[in-house]
Amino acid sequence: MSEENKQKSSIWGGRFRTGPSDLMQEINASISFDKNLYSEDIEGSKAHALMLEKQQIISPEDLKAIQNGLDQIYTEISNNTFSFKIELEDIHMNIETRLAELIGEPAKRLHTARSRNDQVATDIRLWLRNRIDELDAELQRLQEILLHKAEKNIHTLMPGYTHLQTAQPISFGFHLAAYIEMMGRDRQRLQDCRKRLNESPLGAAALAGTSFPIDRHMTAKTLGFDRPMANALDAVSSRDFALEFTSAAAICAMHLSRLAEEIVIWSTDRFNFIRLSDEFTTGSSIMPQKKNPDAAELIRAKPGRIIGHFVSLATILKGLPLAYGKDMQEDKEPLFDTQKTLSISIAAMSGMIADMSVNQAAMRDALQKGHPTATDLADFLVRELNKAFRDAHHISGSLVALADDKGCPLEDLSLEDMQKIEPLLDESVFAVLKIEDACNARSSFGGTAPDELKKRLEDAASRFNLNQEMK
Ligand code: ARG
Repeated sequence: MSEENKQKSSIWGGRFRTGPSDLMQEINASISFDKNLYSEDIEGSKAHALMLEKQQIISPEDLKAIQNGLDQIYTEISNNTFSFKIELEDIHMNIETRLAELIGEPAKRLHTARSRNDQVATDIRLWLRNRIDELDAELQRLQEILLHKAEKNIHTLMPGYTHLQTAQPISFGFHLAAYIEMMGRDRQRLQDCRKRLNESPLGAAALAGTSFPIDRHMTAKTLGFDRPMANALDAVSSRDFALEFTSAAAICAMHLSRLAEEIVIWSTDRFNFIRLSDEFTTGSSIMPQKKNPDAAELIRAKPGRIIGHFVSLATILKGLPLAYGKDMQEDKEPLFDTQKTLSISIAAMSGMIADMSVNQAAMRDALQKGHPTATDLADFLVRELNKAFRDAHHISGSLVALADDKGCPLEDLSLEDMQKIEPLLDESVFAVLKIEDACNARSSFGGTAPDELKKRLEDAASRFNLNQEMK
């Protein structure tokens, strides 16, 4: 046997005469991506060693050596001086082998009453818990940016759309505030996932528990888990927490993509409602006039990736018999990329919103062209002239057609012209045709009226724990 092959086979010990083929090694190794878990792997090992010592399974001297060795490995990996070896398969074996190089004998005792199956399940849960906490802070920051922009634009009027056709006048702040709510639910979904994932698989060992007198409650507590998982087989076999995370992430990415699409639309030269900063746009290599909203377009596209990861994970897990199968190693790349993709989408969205400028005049212009007070006119006919709503709707529609024929907004029609369609109309009609009044009138709870919006923004700040001062 070649020296190299001896080293390969030595990882699993005795029963192998030769190491794996290069191809086997290539398909089997996960170190290229699971090195991401190094910090959590070390944290888990330290908690395990501490417990082994307390239960008198290893000696205090072993514990000290293991702790020091793991600290050194942590430093090496953080400083990029650690040399990862593909023949050692994964992060767990890379760290354990290095530990043996550093401290000798005690390193070999660390894996007592533990398997890579409970080890990796613990690592991923710790990793994801940390990432969820970061994502929560990132989303909270985005909500604060939206809140700040919304507060500045309480009185900025724009057309509200249905079918992307002008519907009714709304405040731009009101539109942005809708996303504060969506992001709030996204945060809650992530928190909910965090709650369920926060149980410790450590000590489940390979699948059935262990005959050593371990204390799973102690390791769970040391690692900040709420409790040890109740069934060892479930602990090593389950990745539903990863599915839950990718599904919550997919929903959040979907919300971001809707806002991204609105940004793309608003920044076209036809709409011209907003202007993105140079920092979040790109030029064209051939058309000098271009300012492309690439960041928004990419955020619009990212759910494709994240939803793909969800489908990929669900497909890996479906039909998989208990307990561990190497299939489960395929959980990591979708999970890692989901977190990375969502995080950069949130960051880019935050940057775009913080920097964008708002073109009130263009919004006003679009409002005037879209006859957004036609509903208010119909309501007026019901209220003041006692028309049935369907008839009022018809009369208001005819007045819109007349304004279109004349190429003017509704409020610029003369009373004489209006009376040709509805003779009972008088001067008082003009009061409801004003865009501001139409917006102010929608003061029902959660409506767009500025006074109501102010109250709802205050309320959102307290419900989502948002700082109203921009940092
Ligand atoms: N690298 C493996 C994974 O990510 C670790 C667990 C290996 N377990 C085993 N029984 N081979 O899933």
